[in-house]
Amino acid sequence: MDRNLALEFVRVTEAAALASARLMGRGDEKMADHVAVEAMRSALNSIQFDGTVVIGEGERDEAPMLYIGEKVGTGGGVKLDIALDPLEGTTICARGSTNALSVIAIAQGGNFLHAPDTYMDKIAVGPEAKGAIDLRKSPSENLKSIAAAKKTKVQDLTVIILDRPRHEALIKEVRDCGARIWLIGDGDVSASIAACYEDSGVDVLMGSGGAPEGVISAAALRCMGGDFQGRLIFRKDDERERATKMGIKDFDKIYMIDDLARGKVMFCATGVTQGTMLKGVRFHKGHAHTHSVVMRSETGTIRMIEADHDLVRKPSYAQG
Ligand code: FBP
Repeated sequence: MDRNLALEFVRVTEAAALASARLMGRGDEKMADHVAVEAMRSALNSIQFDGTVVIGEGERDEAPMLYIGEKVGTGGGVKLDIALDPLEGTTICARGSTNALSVIAIAQGGNFLHAPDTYMDKIAVGPEAKGAIDLRKSPSENLKSIAAAKKTKVQDLTVIILDRPRHEALIKEVRDCGARIWLIGDGDVSASIAACYEDSGVDVLMGSGGAPEGVISAAALRCMGGDFQGRLIFRKDDERERATKMGIKDFDKIYMIDDLARGKVMFCATGVTQGTMLKGVRFHKGHAHTHSVVMRSETGTIRMIEADHDLVRKPSYAQG
């Protein structure tokens, strides 16, 4: 995969972040998502490549733009599969709280799991604990194994968990083990990245969130040298039917990081609201400032890009 494409794709997440950041704190999740989708789609379609959305805004009948299977790019050039979320954390953005991102992951054709829109049980860690996680084991056993790999005590570990009633038993078990917990309202892609990013103070993500977000997180962690496992959770028969149509055969399978995002992977994210790794978009007179990360699994380079956008010369970014 041409590494120069990385800069092209960061323009895509910048455009989506700039659009949705205008709606930060306005309480309108749908509109914030809508403007991010429009901006991302238009930026994607200006890049010369032959792209197919495999993780997107939903099935064709429910998502008018960036739906699963939609062709993106100008059509010529390299064939790539795209996993995207123009606004990961719609509620975060609508409330103006932390860690809303615009994200895109790219791989050569057929390398992302075509994940159905179900929940996924997830565990994510950074490079030091790679190989020390196993979703078949209990949270306590995983915490012991992660602590041993990191040569520390379970009490020193911080576990990031989505604050949901479904996680009551998980939270209790983690508390009983003595580990610290960071409960978050939304955004388990940024939380998975935090588990992999030393400066965040987070050691592991546990619990269930969206399966499509699991694929995007796995792509990011492949680039960062971390580890991730996921298992699809089906609550109704129609979820199993949809999964079967998408090629899922084994409903109990534990997906390793490489099952979710194989081969050479590229990942870009731009902060929408202030975050753990990325600053949010800031608007000044005639300018906007964005903070993005671009990573490639091939080299493991993690490149932070701060950009100053002139809203006078780029009027499409000035709307708000
Ligand atoms: P959206 O950006 O689609 O609102 O997703 C936010 C999110 O918190 C994801 O990060 C997470 O995977 C999922 O929702 C969790 O779903 P739920 O809110 O149903 O627990």
